[in-house]
Amino acid sequence: MTFNLFEEEESRRLWHEPICPGAVVLRQFALADDALMLTAIKKVVTQAPFRHMITPGGLTMSAAMSSCGTHGWVTDRRGYRYAGTDPESGLPWPALPAALQQLAASAASSAGYPDFVPDACLINRYAVGARMSLHQDKDEPDLDAPIVSVSLGLPATFQFGGLRREMKPLRIPLTHGDVVVWGGPARLFFHGVSPIKHGIHPLTGEYRINLTFRKVT
Ligand code: SIN
Ligand code: FE2
Repeated sequence: MTFNLFEEEESRRLWHEPICPGAVVLRQFALADDALMLTAIKKVVTQAPFRHMITPGGLTMSAAMSSCGTHGWVTDRRGYRYAGTDPESGLPWPALPAALQQLAASAASSAGYPDFVPDACLINRYAVGARMSLHQDKDEPDLDAPIVSVSLGLPATFQFGGLRREMKPLRIPLTHGDVVVWGGPARLFFHGVSPIKHGIHPLTGEYRINLTFRKVT
Protein backbone atom coordinates (compact mmCIF):
# COMPACT_ATOMS: atom_id res chain seq x y z
CA MET A 1 0.00 0.00 0.00
CA THR A 2 1.33 3.46 -0.82
CA PHE A 3 -0.20 6.77 0.15
CA ASN A 4 0.49 10.39 -0.45
CA LEU A 5 1.09 12.34 2.74
CA PHE A 6 -2.46 13.53 3.14
CA GLU A 7 -3.94 10.09 2.64
CA GLU A 8 -1.41 8.64 5.03
CA GLU A 9 -2.37 11.06 7.76
CA GLU A 10 -6.07 10.63 7.05
CA SER A 11 -5.91 6.85 7.18
CA ARG A 12 -3.86 6.98 10.36
CA ARG A 13 -6.61 9.07 11.95
CA LEU A 14 -9.25 6.59 10.81
CA TRP A 15 -7.43 3.43 11.75
CA HIS A 16 -5.47 4.12 14.89
CA GLU A 17 -6.90 3.06 18.20
CA PRO A 18 -4.08 3.08 20.73
CA ILE A 19 -4.17 0.34 23.39
CA CYS A 20 -1.16 1.43 25.42
CA PRO A 21 2.35 2.68 24.62
CA GLY A 22 3.70 0.30 21.96
CA ALA A 23 0.35 -1.32 21.06
CA VAL A 24 -2.38 -0.20 18.69
CA VAL A 25 -5.45 -1.55 16.89
CA LEU A 26 -5.59 -0.60 13.21
CA ARG A 27 -9.30 -0.92 12.55
CA GLN A 28 -10.11 -2.63 9.23
CA PHE A 29 -6.55 -2.18 8.00
CA ALA A 30 -6.63 -5.56 6.19
CA LEU A 31 -10.22 -5.33 4.97
CA ALA A 32 -9.38 -4.43 1.36
CA ASP A 33 -7.05 -7.43 1.16
CA ASP A 34 -9.34 -9.97 2.84
CA ALA A 35 -10.04 -12.15 -0.21
CA LEU A 36 -6.41 -12.13 -1.24
CA MET A 37 -5.34 -13.19 2.23
CA LEU A 38 -7.90 -15.97 2.49
CA THR A 39 -6.90 -17.31 -0.92
CA ALA A 40 -3.25 -17.31 0.14
CA ILE A 41 -4.12 -19.10 3.40
CA LYS A 42 -6.13 -21.74 1.54
CA LYS A 43 -3.10 -22.47 -0.58
CA VAL A 44 -0.77 -22.68 2.43
CA VAL A 45 -3.02 -25.15 4.25
CA THR A 46 -3.24 -27.50 1.29
CA GLN A 47 0.52 -27.98 1.82
CA ALA A 48 0.63 -27.65 5.62
CA PRO A 49 -2.85 -28.61 6.89
CA PHE A 50 -4.33 -27.16 10.09
CA ARG A 51 -3.60 -29.35 13.10
CA HIS A 52 -4.31 -29.24 16.84
CA MET A 53 -0.96 -29.25 18.60
CA ILE A 54 -0.19 -30.41 22.12
CA THR A 55 1.19 -28.11 24.82
CA PRO A 56 4.25 -29.18 26.83
CA GLY A 57 1.78 -29.91 29.65
CA GLY A 58 -0.12 -32.39 27.46
CA LEU A 59 -3.21 -30.30 26.61
CA THR A 60 -4.59 -30.15 23.09
CA MET A 61 -4.84 -26.57 21.83
CA SER A 62 -8.36 -25.60 20.83
CA ALA A 63 -7.16 -23.42 17.93
CA ALA A 64 -5.97 -25.39 14.91
CA MET A 65 -2.67 -24.10 13.51
CA SER A 66 -0.49 -23.96 10.47
CA SER A 67 2.43 -21.74 9.45
CA CYS A 68 4.19 -20.27 6.49
CA GLY A 69 7.56 -18.60 6.17
CA THR A 70 11.10 -19.79 6.84
CA HIS A 71 10.01 -20.92 10.31
CA GLY A 72 6.79 -22.13 11.87
CA TRP A 73 5.78 -22.05 15.50
CA VAL A 74 5.24 -25.51 16.96
CA THR A 75 4.47 -27.05 20.31
CA ASP A 76 4.61 -30.62 21.57
CA ARG A 77 5.62 -32.41 24.77
CA ARG A 78 9.17 -31.12 24.25
CA GLY A 79 8.14 -27.47 24.41
CA TYR A 80 7.31 -24.37 22.40
CA ARG A 81 9.68 -23.39 19.60
CA TYR A 82 10.14 -22.41 15.98
CA ALA A 83 10.96 -25.13 13.46
CA GLY A 84 12.24 -24.82 9.91
CA THR A 85 10.17 -27.79 8.78
CA ASP A 86 6.61 -28.93 9.37
CA PRO A 87 6.84 -31.81 11.87
CA GLU A 88 3.78 -33.46 10.27
CA SER A 89 5.36 -33.76 6.81
CA GLY A 90 9.07 -33.18 7.40
CA LEU A 91 8.93 -30.60 4.60
CA PRO A 92 9.83 -26.90 4.76
CA TRP A 93 6.86 -24.69 5.58
CA PRO A 94 5.17 -23.07 2.57
CA ALA A 95 6.73 -19.72 1.66
CA LEU A 96 5.31 -16.55 3.20
CA PRO A 97 3.34 -14.98 0.33
CA ALA A 98 4.84 -11.60 -0.63
CA ALA A 99 1.47 -9.83 -0.48
CA LEU A 100 0.98 -10.96 3.13
CA GLN A 101 4.48 -9.95 4.09
CA GLN A 102 3.91 -6.51 2.57
CA LEU A 103 0.60 -6.02 4.34
CA ALA A 104 2.21 -6.91 7.68
CA ALA A 105 5.14 -4.55 7.01
CA SER A 106 2.79 -1.74 6.09
CA ALA A 107 0.67 -2.29 9.23
CA ALA A 108 3.81 -2.28 11.37
CA SER A 109 5.02 0.89 9.69
CA SER A 110 1.69 2.59 10.27
CA ALA A 111 1.95 1.60 13.94
CA GLY A 112 5.41 3.15 14.28
CA TYR A 113 7.62 0.15 13.47
CA PRO A 114 9.03 1.08 10.06
CA ASP A 115 11.53 -1.72 9.44
CA PHE A 116 9.52 -4.84 10.14
CA VAL A 117 10.36 -7.75 7.82
CA PRO A 118 8.48 -10.80 9.10
CA ASP A 119 9.80 -14.24 8.22
CA ALA A 120 7.17 -16.34 9.97
CA CYS A 121 3.40 -16.30 9.98
CA LEU A 122 1.40 -18.45 12.38
CA ILE A 123 -2.11 -19.16 11.15
CA ASN A 124 -4.67 -19.86 13.88
CA ARG A 125 -8.09 -21.22 13.03
CA TYR A 126 -10.69 -20.90 15.80
CA ALA A 127 -13.94 -22.83 15.59
CA VAL A 128 -16.84 -21.68 17.76
CA GLY A 129 -15.82 -22.16 21.41
CA ALA A 130 -12.08 -22.22 20.69
CA ARG A 131 -9.91 -19.84 22.70
CA MET A 132 -6.34 -19.00 23.53
CA SER A 133 -5.29 -18.56 27.11
CA LEU A 134 -3.12 -15.67 28.27
CA HIS A 135 0.46 -16.04 27.09
CA GLN A 136 3.49 -14.03 26.01
CA ASP A 137 5.02 -14.26 22.54
CA LYS A 138 8.58 -14.81 23.71
CA ASP A 139 10.03 -17.55 21.51
CA GLU A 140 11.44 -14.97 19.08
CA PRO A 141 15.10 -14.03 19.67
CA ASP A 142 14.67 -10.47 18.32
CA LEU A 143 12.29 -8.73 20.68
CA ASP A 144 12.85 -5.38 18.92
CA ALA A 145 10.53 -6.56 16.14
CA PRO A 146 6.81 -6.16 16.84
CA ILE A 147 4.03 -8.74 16.42
CA VAL A 148 1.44 -8.00 13.75
CA SER A 149 -1.87 -9.82 14.20
CA VAL A 150 -4.60 -9.89 11.54
CA SER A 151 -8.16 -10.97 12.34
CA LEU A 152 -10.44 -12.48 9.70
CA GLY A 153 -13.89 -14.03 9.87
CA LEU A 154 -15.89 -14.37 13.07
CA PRO A 155 -15.38 -11.65 15.69
CA ALA A 156 -13.37 -12.20 18.86
CA THR A 157 -12.62 -10.60 22.18
CA PHE A 158 -8.88 -10.06 22.38
CA GLN A 159 -7.47 -9.89 25.89
CA PHE A 160 -4.50 -7.61 26.30
CA GLY A 161 -2.86 -7.46 29.71
CA GLY A 162 0.54 -6.43 30.97
CA LEU A 163 3.94 -7.84 31.77
CA ARG A 164 2.59 -10.08 34.51
CA ARG A 165 -0.06 -12.75 34.01
CA GLU A 166 -2.00 -11.51 37.05
CA MET A 167 -2.65 -8.11 35.51
CA LYS A 168 -6.29 -7.86 34.49
CA PRO A 169 -6.39 -7.73 30.69
CA LEU A 170 -8.30 -5.17 28.65
CA ARG A 171 -11.00 -6.77 26.51
CA ILE A 172 -10.79 -5.51 22.95
CA PRO A 173 -13.40 -6.50 20.36
CA LEU A 174 -11.80 -7.47 17.04
CA THR A 175 -13.69 -7.96 13.81
CA HIS A 176 -12.89 -9.02 10.25
CA GLY A 177 -10.01 -6.96 8.85
CA ASP A 178 -8.76 -5.51 12.15
CA VAL A 179 -5.00 -5.58 12.77
CA VAL A 180 -3.31 -5.35 16.16
CA VAL A 181 0.36 -4.41 16.39
CA TRP A 182 2.33 -4.66 19.63
CA GLY A 183 6.01 -4.06 20.25
CA GLY A 184 8.41 -1.82 22.15
CA PRO A 185 7.30 -1.52 25.80
CA ALA A 186 4.29 -3.80 25.10
CA ARG A 187 6.19 -6.50 23.19
CA LEU A 188 6.04 -9.06 26.02
CA PHE A 189 2.57 -8.21 27.30
CA PHE A 190 0.30 -11.16 28.05
CA HIS A 191 -2.56 -11.62 25.59
CA GLY A 192 -5.21 -14.16 24.71
CA VAL A 193 -8.54 -14.75 23.00
CA SER A 194 -11.89 -15.41 24.74
CA PRO A 195 -13.98 -18.34 23.46
CA ILE A 196 -15.34 -17.56 20.00
CA LYS A 197 -19.10 -17.01 19.97
CA HIS A 198 -21.38 -18.75 17.55
CA GLY A 199 -21.87 -17.07 14.19
CA ILE A 200 -21.48 -17.37 10.45
CA HIS A 201 -19.15 -15.12 8.51
CA PRO A 202 -19.75 -14.75 4.76
CA LEU A 203 -16.09 -15.48 3.92
CA THR A 204 -15.00 -17.93 6.63
CA GLY A 205 -18.25 -19.58 7.76
CA GLU A 206 -18.05 -20.83 11.35
CA TYR A 207 -14.42 -19.87 11.88
CA ARG A 208 -12.18 -17.06 12.94
CA ILE A 209 -8.79 -16.98 11.25
CA ASN A 210 -5.91 -15.11 12.85
CA LEU A 211 -2.52 -14.50 11.32
CA THR A 212 0.40 -13.43 13.49
CA PHE A 213 3.47 -12.19 11.70
CA ARG A 214 6.75 -12.51 13.53
CA LYS A 215 10.43 -11.95 12.93
CA VAL A 216 12.22 -15.09 14.00
CA THR A 217 15.70 -14.91 12.43
C1 SIN B 1 -1.85 -15.40 19.23
O1 SIN B 1 -1.59 -14.79 20.24
O2 SIN B 1 -1.02 -16.15 18.66
C2 SIN B 1 -3.20 -15.30 18.58
C3 SIN B 1 -3.91 -14.04 18.84
C4 SIN B 1 -5.26 -14.01 18.16
O3 SIN B 1 -5.77 -15.05 17.72
O4 SIN B 1 -5.84 -12.92 18.03
FE1 FE2 C 1 0.40 -14.70 20.98
